[in-house]
Amino acid sequence: MPPMKKTILSGSTVTGNLTLGNYIGAINNWRQLQDDYDCLYFLADLHALTVHQDPAILRERIYSFFAQYLALGLDPQKNIIFAQSHVHEHTELSWILTCLTPMGALNRMTQFKEKSAKHTKNINAGLFTYPTLMAADILLYQADLVPVGEDQKQHLELCRDLVGTFENHYGKGLLKMPEPYIGKTGARVMSLQDPIKKMSKSDEVEKNFVAVIEDPKSIEKKIKSAATDSGSEIRFDPEMKPGVSNLLTIYSVLAGKSMAELEAAYAGKMYGHLKVDLAELVVETLRPARERYADLMKNRDHLDQLLASGAARAQVRAQETLKKVYQAVGLVPRKA
Ligand code: TYM
Repeated sequence: MPPMKKTILSGSTVTGNLTLGNYIGAINNWRQLQDDYDCLYFLADLHALTVHQDPAILRERIYSFFAQYLALGLDPQKNIIFAQSHVHEHTELSWILTCLTPMGALNRMTQFKEKSAKHTKNINAGLFTYPTLMAADILLYQADLVPVGEDQKQHLELCRDLVGTFENHYGKGLLKMPEPYIGKTGARVMSLQDPIKKMSKSDEVEKNFVAVIEDPKSIEKKIKSAATDSGSEIRFDPEMKPGVSNLLTIYSVLAGKSMAELEAAYAGKMYGHLKVDLAELVVETLRPARERYADLMKNRDHLDQLLASGAARAQVRAQETLKKVYQAVGLVPRKA
């Protein structure tokens, strides 16, 4: 029987370290959805391969990201949590979609332009077709809603276009049209030293981000040395005061307080006051997750078992969609 709740799907690429940006923009929202929706959350490990990865580091990072998902409160019973590479239907549907995707559409993708400018020695075809794999991730599970931050919206738009193209060729009703899900706190967290660009987990400058599993001393140091703006007034104004506004955004989400409340509380105070309080808030918010994470990482067999059961549950659903798609495009099913 199809699930009665709306289906939500999201994931994170397994590169670098999950940051405070990923927590605030993604995982914190995912956790709040897990009781009311049918949720699938996955590790985009195949997407990570679009940039060269050291195999040993990637392997370790897949466990680490999974343990962080769990430590941050994603429940493997309530949600289906799995690794993309464990469900081969993702790459199969991705191929069908790749054959429907105009080169021009992929050429317009901002992330492709940015990443190919950054990795000039490795502009591979996977980097180019990255969004078709992402579309497959979403469409395989007939997701109604996809929670993503600003930076992923263009990819989701392409996915929606692909549903239209697929329908034009093969008829309606096979693939669900996904909608972006804008969380209550869909904030965009910016780099600590350069607050006009987003906090990114693949940033080479460590001072720009706080990692979810970073040690408290280091978090404190980074927040206290975050770039602030000229003047001394603590006011939310991303245009004129991007540094302070970023700190206020983080504060507001983690403390559940409005900007107006924060501005009132810090009226007449110095940037330093805000930073001291925010550092403590971030450390205390992440502390329980950091402790749970350390425990989870000690037992790889347990992580393997959870991953296997997540993949098995995901695959039942993925197979169903892929079978229909193969049939619709005219492929002949393999007979027993
Ligand atoms: P990724 O791994 O870059 O990011 C995971 C999620 O975190 C959000 N995010 C942020 N939100 C606020 N502030 C920030 N500084 C910040 N940095 C990242 C992202 O918007 C995202 O929601 N391509 C995707 C992974 C993916 C995916 C999918 C997502 C693959 N297939 C299918 C949804 C559906 C990515 O690289 O996200």
